[in-house]
Amino acid sequence: MSGGVYGGDEVGGVVFDIGAHSVRAGYAGEDCPKYDVPTFVGTLDEGTKDEIMQTAVPSEEKPKLPEKKYFIDTNSIHLPKENMEIINPVKDGMIEDWDTFEKILDYIYAKDIKSESSLHPVLMSEASWNVRPKREKLTELMFEKYNIPAFFLCKNAVLTAFANGRSTGLVIDSGATQTSAVPVHDGYVLQQAIVKSPLAGDFIMAQCRQMFEEKNVEIAPPYVIATKEVSKEGGPAIFTKKNNLPSVAKSFHRHMVNETIQDFQASVLQVSDGPYDESALESIPGVVYEFPNGYNDIFGVERFKICEGLFDPSNVKSATVKDEKKIVFHILTPHLPTLRVQKSGDIFRSLRCKHAIFDKGIEGSTAIGVTQVVTTSVGMTDIDIRAGLFGSVIVTGGNTLLQGFIDRLNRELLSKTPPSMRLKLISNNTPMERRFNPWIGGSILASLGSFQQMWISKQEYEDQGKGSVERKCP
Ligand SMILES: Nc1ncnc2c1ncn2[C@@H]1O[C@H](COP(=O)(O)OP(=O)(O)OP(=O)(O)O)[C@@H](O)[C@H]1O
Ligand SMILES: [Mg+2]
Repeated sequence: MSGGVYGGDEVGGVVFDIGAHSVRAGYAGEDCPKYDVPTFVGTLDEGTKDEIMQTAVPSEEKPKLPEKKYFIDTNSIHLPKENMEIINPVKDGMIEDWDTFEKILDYIYAKDIKSESSLHPVLMSEASWNVRPKREKLTELMFEKYNIPAFFLCKNAVLTAFANGRSTGLVIDSGATQTSAVPVHDGYVLQQAIVKSPLAGDFIMAQCRQMFEEKNVEIAPPYVIATKEVSKEGGPAIFTKKNNLPSVAKSFHRHMVNETIQDFQASVLQVSDGPYDESALESIPGVVYEFPNGYNDIFGVERFKICEGLFDPSNVKSATVKDEKKIVFHILTPHLPTLRVQKSGDIFRSLRCKHAIFDKGIEGSTAIGVTQVVTTSVGMTDIDIRAGLFGSVIVTGGNTLLQGFIDRLNRELLSKTPPSMRLKLISNNTPMERRFNPWIGGSILASLGSFQQMWISKQEYEDQGKGSVERKCP
């Protein structure tokens, strides 16, 4: 061992993969993350009447105004509590609310890892577009607060490529808040060719929500239901609501409804093989789904129609038809800013809206279909490496588990692949692996013998400060 280099793994490293939907954690060297903790956190201002004990570990911080209680992990956030708000510390794939993020880490160390943070080096994933101030802040947090012996920050696309045994490939990740294409070449992300689109899981959820509103169906999450009876297919649900419920915050109720819809998404929805063709799809048998309150129906073409927007945004169910040429739709989700996209003719133009600019050409957040996300990204890379990217298109993220997603993407990409190149789509078949790719890549990397010299050791951090992350973690 020389200088400030970390000496290796006498004790196992811990790997964290941070997503907007959940944080995956566990020991390096294992096949899958042992812990999958929702990134959604319940918060309650201290002083609110509440007899329920918090499950989160107490904060080590000095009191701030006003002091908050945090409720973390599935069971704890599902229990209705008066005025408990549900918040999410991740925005655009990056950590935004650091206090809340720390509470999630505190919780995972205390309840899941159950070992001193100072004993384990930490490998953490980050969005491929993460920014320097946030990377430095995270490095500082891990060394200063958690006192870890060594740290490494790695772009989640690189980890996904590693998990699939590759150092070059195009990683397409469709999670909750966005679909992104990130080219990885020899283990490095080609930053200038990253393309993102907000059309992902939350967008599909918003589409479902809209469909139920149009059908006049109120989605009742399990926490409100006292009793239910068998109800007629498509008919109103026959159920009674619990009458002793505390008065819950809007964000709590909304989150519970969202989770109920997400189960519907995973169970019912399907991406059609080719462009949406209602008359052809009508002949495919529908799927029956029953909601927790007993409302049940058979879902036919709508289960394809909802997904179509992912591939063909011009097909998105429109909320308001302003005139023949312009269709304006609004998507409201907890993560997305209000998005108004205007369709005129065949050209998709996005309008300046509340929090962000969605504009064709600005690759930050353009509402473009999945296939176009891929082709646009490849198109921005050097022509010499394109064959290597088309030859390894690695698909990851929970939203890609939608039935038919991979087949449709494969078919559309085949028609866009230059004749001189070979297209190969790589995707894990099991839902776990599809969602946990970055974590699995981190687990492999952190346990490689040759990786041990790559860590930022505590000594290096102390000598060089938080800037060491830019130098050691590309
Ligand atoms: N079996 C399934 N079928 C369809 N959608 C699914 C399935 N499982 C999960 N999802 C959706 O996938 C999304 C979560 O995916 P993932 O865990 O990859 O997100 P994340 O990495 O936490 O978020 P992000 O990538 O936006 O930061 C949610 O929108 C969820 O509804
Ligand atoms: Mg993700």
